[in-house]
Amino acid sequence: MEKLRATSNLRRSLKSLLNRRLSSGSDFTHFNQKRSFQTSFNPIRDYKSVGEVNAVQYRCFSSVSTLVQRNPSFSTLNSDDISYFKRFLGEKNVIQDEDRLETVNTDWMHKYKGSSKLLLQPRSTEEVSQILRYCNSRCLAVVPQAGNTGLVGGSVPVFDEVIVNVGSMNNIISFDKVSGILVCEAGCILENLISFLDNKGFVMPLDLGAKGSCQIGGNVSTNAGGLRLVRYGSLHGNVLGLEAVLANGDVLDMLGTLRKDNTGYDLKHLFIGSEGSLGIVTKVSILTPPKLSSVNLAFLACKDYSSCQKLLVEAKRKLGEILSAIEFLDDQAMVLVLHHLDGVRNPLPTSMHNFYVLIETTGSDESFDREKLEAFLLSSMEGGLISDGVLAQDINQLSSFWRIREGVPEALMKAGAVYKYDLSLPVEKMYNLVDDMRVRLGNLAKVVGYGHLGDGNLHLNISAPQYNDAILQQIEPYVYEWTSKHRGSISAEHGLGLMKANQIYYSKTPETVQIMASIKTLLDPNGILNPYKVLPHSLNR
Ligand code: FAD
Ligand code: MLT
Ligand code: ZN
Repeated sequence: MEKLRATSNLRRSLKSLLNRRLSSGSDFTHFNQKRSFQTSFNPIRDYKSVGEVNAVQYRCFSSVSTLVQRNPSFSTLNSDDISYFKRFLGEKNVIQDEDRLETVNTDWMHKYKGSSKLLLQPRSTEEVSQILRYCNSRCLAVVPQAGNTGLVGGSVPVFDEVIVNVGSMNNIISFDKVSGILVCEAGCILENLISFLDNKGFVMPLDLGAKGSCQIGGNVSTNAGGLRLVRYGSLHGNVLGLEAVLANGDVLDMLGTLRKDNTGYDLKHLFIGSEGSLGIVTKVSILTPPKLSSVNLAFLACKDYSSCQKLLVEAKRKLGEILSAIEFLDDQAMVLVLHHLDGVRNPLPTSMHNFYVLIETTGSDESFDREKLEAFLLSSMEGGLISDGVLAQDINQLSSFWRIREGVPEALMKAGAVYKYDLSLPVEKMYNLVDDMRVRLGNLAKVVGYGHLGDGNLHLNISAPQYNDAILQQIEPYVYEWTSKHRGSISAEHGLGLMKANQIYYSKTPETVQIMASIKTLLDPNGILNPYKVLPHSLNR
């Protein structure tokens, strides 16, 4: 009886806690999803042009491990090339304007910078094919670029590669309401697809902070993970088909819309996550789940990482079918967001906590889902896993809670230089690396941890006023060795790009890398597609 009374007291206090409106909740800044990521930050130039030695060009980005030599077999663009492109693409899709080129030569982090003299904007698969056929015959190197939100230096040129962006190919080709299968061109912006589907009563199985700029072609090419992977799985499962143009201009039509097709090797998977190194993706077919009516989001505080981990285990067990996201950030990440992002407020302002966890549920029965989530939160509070928490009361609060988690990369950029690592690790070990790095770096830099808790994906970020070799030496190769020792992956979702091409052996065996290189040679014998990326430079032609 005593116990029951105690429980119902707790239930009452939990209810008032969960239902308490955030102080002046309506003042919460509306998350502006139509943000542009490419113009708002102070540039941090950290690349060094090592220059030319005996007419061989070298370039070094942020560490000697990314010292790159220009492939001498690549040609240099000339006026005949430009005239050729203008003839079939039209003047306005052949861009040589210096300001435009400055933007597309520079990555989102302002860390990698190429010196391309040309941006091409094809409007059809045929035009992509014609561009690549020509570039291949002239041995002109090409970088496919989409929203340019990639975080590993994969989307910008290293030297003078021609940039090809299929952003003008942004039509929805078909949507089947019965199967939920969407077929669209690769240049569609993710957020536009999300809105299109929302109107049809469906959702994209992919959502990420860069949705306002990134394109579905870029998402597929990086095999982007994002915030809902825990619920919907990876793009290897959701992409049913695609069309891609190979380096020689051949069009591979693999744009199937079937859930099941076991007719031999499923080659589309080669292009999912190949970061533009095997072909340019021009169309995508994707399976989308129906939109469910009830979405709840809890913003919770935990006293230590072990509690976050236990909370994850419990959430999977007790929320099971309605769990749609479980994300975390540490206090350092929270401090950065609160300090650097306009209008963001702490939903749990009474004190700072060591960890924050966002748990989102998506289901079809409002009262059942809410009750289930509240019961889960109550038992987690009783069990001491949660120290404080609040449930979003409306769509504005929901957006403002997500803004905190999604805003961490932006806040880090505003804080100065950032060394970014995206690791897959066993969840129980994941945060030990953050602690270890704090010990290693001492006062040299701030160590920030956040990420996709449900996927065992840690975003380890080291933030400092500026880039500094002493800091980098403390981080690399230590982070990669640590990850490899724990049988993790040095890239959970961002890819290898230029940043980690030479580090691939920390996560893949030499035999596997050799087969990857053979596939690259088969599909792109001249190595014109996104050179210096993905594969180690020793194997890059
Ligand atoms: P780009 O950056 O332009 O290109 C990425 C790579 O794909 C490059 O190697 C490029 O050559 C290649 N590529 C682009 N288009 C094509 C094409 N049509 N055909 C062939 N190759 C192509 N990533 C995650 O996985 N999860 C996250 O939660 C996440 N959150 C992010 C939040 C922020 C604020 C930012 C800035 C980035 C985030 N990212 C995340 C990283 C990035 O947004 C994703 O990797 C995204 O999928 C890249 O898409 P994009 O259109 O910007 O591609
Ligand atoms: C995220 O989850 O916020 C993104 O992957 C970006 C990042 O790692 O900074
Ligand atoms: Zn992420």
